[in-house]
Amino acid sequence: MAKPEVLELIDVHPGTTARLDRAYLLHRLWQASGRKDFVAEVAPRVRAAVTNGIVGMKGELIEALPELEIIGVFGVGVDAVDLAVAKTRGVRVTNTPEVLTEGVAELAFALLLSVARRIPFNDRFVRAGRWPKEGDPALSSSLAGRRLGIVGLGRIGRRVGKLAEAFGMVVCYTGPRRKDDVAWRYYDDLVAMAREVDCLMITCKGGSETAGLIGREVIGAVGPEGWLINISRGSVVDEPALVEALVNGRLGAAGLDVFAREPQVPEALLGLDNVVFQPHQGSASEETRAAMGRLVLDNLEAHFAGRPLLTPVV
Ligand code: 8YV
Repeated sequence: MAKPEVLELIDVHPGTTARLDRAYLLHRLWQASGRKDFVAEVAPRVRAAVTNGIVGMKGELIEALPELEIIGVFGVGVDAVDLAVAKTRGVRVTNTPEVLTEGVAELAFALLLSVARRIPFNDRFVRAGRWPKEGDPALSSSLAGRRLGIVGLGRIGRRVGKLAEAFGMVVCYTGPRRKDDVAWRYYDDLVAMAREVDCLMITCKGGSETAGLIGREVIGAVGPEGWLINISRGSVVDEPALVEALVNGRLGAAGLDVFAREPQVPEALLGLDNVVFQPHQGSASEETRAAMGRLVLDNLEAHFAGRPLLTPVV
């Protein structure tokens, strides 16, 4: 039987692309010079699409593929996929939950430690030869005893909470509803929680439900001594409000893995010592990306074999 034809929107991960290429007739949209002509040529035959959490898949492209049956998202966030169009068209969508929880939580914690212990700043301080000239830098902050407020207690939020507990932090959370299986204090009011914590940890999902959730008021409530860590989506935070607060000292510090217009990072933040950046690295370890790739392939295989999908979203 002929191999099913698959459209890959972006080179999701070299090892995964190579495996897709062996298992299917793979069309690499990311290599095409004329996207429109490329899509028109393969459209009558493409039965699956593979994309990542950032590129997603627009409704227009889903509509342009009449034989499309399934979209495999290399990532847990599906906010960049037009799920409404997929549903209407009867196109299945899968993502890669669980396998990236540990990796993303690690990165969230790395950012938290970097901010608290000023690791990037002190690293720059040493490299610039400032230590012998200026003596020891200013003291940093310990995590033990500090309060961490998690926004969105999903799989990643829970894992970050556990790590925080291991570091002696006091954990609380907010979200659409209280979770009965955790002992951490629940706030139904985000601003009230933001006022009481030392660090706001954003781990909720992206998309229209959470767009701009962390606005001026929340950021102000975290305050000049507080920290904000975002490993979720840039869209969750009102970025101009965040920039203004960091520049004017209304927010103490931030650790940011995600941005509103990646790969663009607000110019005004680049010179600030109280901001630690990562270029969207949450799931970007060899181990995690390999596991995500396996799950994308396993879902496609299940689909084409007529078996239930492992991690369906739609
Ligand atoms: C990836 C992500 O960085 O899982 C997500 O939602 O944003 C990340 O794991 C992204 O899918 C790029 O490969």
